Amino acid sequence: MVQLSASVCLLGGLMGLYLLMPVLMALTPPSMCTALKTLNNSLSHRHRYMKHNFPLNYTIMVHYEEVYKLSNIGKMVKRRQGVDDLVLQRLWFQVNQGVLKKIIRVLPKRHPSRPFTAELERRFKDVEGLFVQSHPSEALQQELPEKVQDKWDRLTEEPERVPQSSWRFSTPKSLLDNFCHTMYCLFSDCFTDTDTEHDYCGASRRRKGRKKDLQPES
Ligand SMILES: *[C@@H]1O[C@H](CO)[C@@H](O)[C@H](O)[C@H]1NC(C)=O
Ligand SMILES: *[C@@H]1O[C@H](CO)[C@@H](O)[C@H](O)[C@H]1NC(C)=O
Repeated sequence: MVQLSASVCLLGGLMGLYLLMPVLMALTPPSMCTALKTLNNSLSHRHRYMKHNFPLNYTIMVHYEEVYKLSNIGKMVKRRQGVDDLVLQRLWFQVNQGVLKKIIRVLPKRHPSRPFTAELERRFKDVEGLFVQSHPSEALQQELPEKVQDKWDRLTEEPERVPQSSWRFSTPKSLLDNFCHTMYCLFSDCFTDTDTEHDYCGASRRRKGRKKDLQPES
């Protein structure tokens, strides 16, 4: 009886694993992981450069779609709108390119956060270059699922044509928090050791869950 319930648990665990697969399947090439970790090093200083160096509660105006959080990814994956890893990663690059541009735009030339942001952008571009190299161009030009294409179109719309209701005010720090957390989720194979207490994309839950399932019941 004990054995039976243990194997039911194991089966449940494996099925849970299967459901998470769409997000966890793709393997990131080692060179790109290295570049992502370099980017992660920059991002680890975001508190100082994106919060301390700004006036209290300073916000910038961004597209609604540029608030790209883990919960948005979870929703898109859950609804299965033909959304896979590659689509989410392409969206991640598009969103954060815009976010970095908007942050740089508000920084005066001599602002103490300017060199940091410029370096962050350089490192981000390095990762993007490797991303483009590591996928066949057909894969990157593949048509996007309709809902994602809508988001994409709004992101690339001329600012003057974006309706008032589509703008949001966000702090630079919270935008970079999203940038960082979604990176851990979308490139989770490069960040398996990072901060395992957090459940980025369910990846750490998977590891913990499996361990528990495999423990003999007493
Ligand atoms: C990413 O940066 C965090 C600090 O923000 C650090 O704790 C973590 O070890 C880094 N991960 C990798 C894989 O470099
Ligand atoms: C900044 O935001 C916090 C939390 O939202 C709020 O409690 C505080 O009053 C704000 N400070 C200023 C100066 O607006």
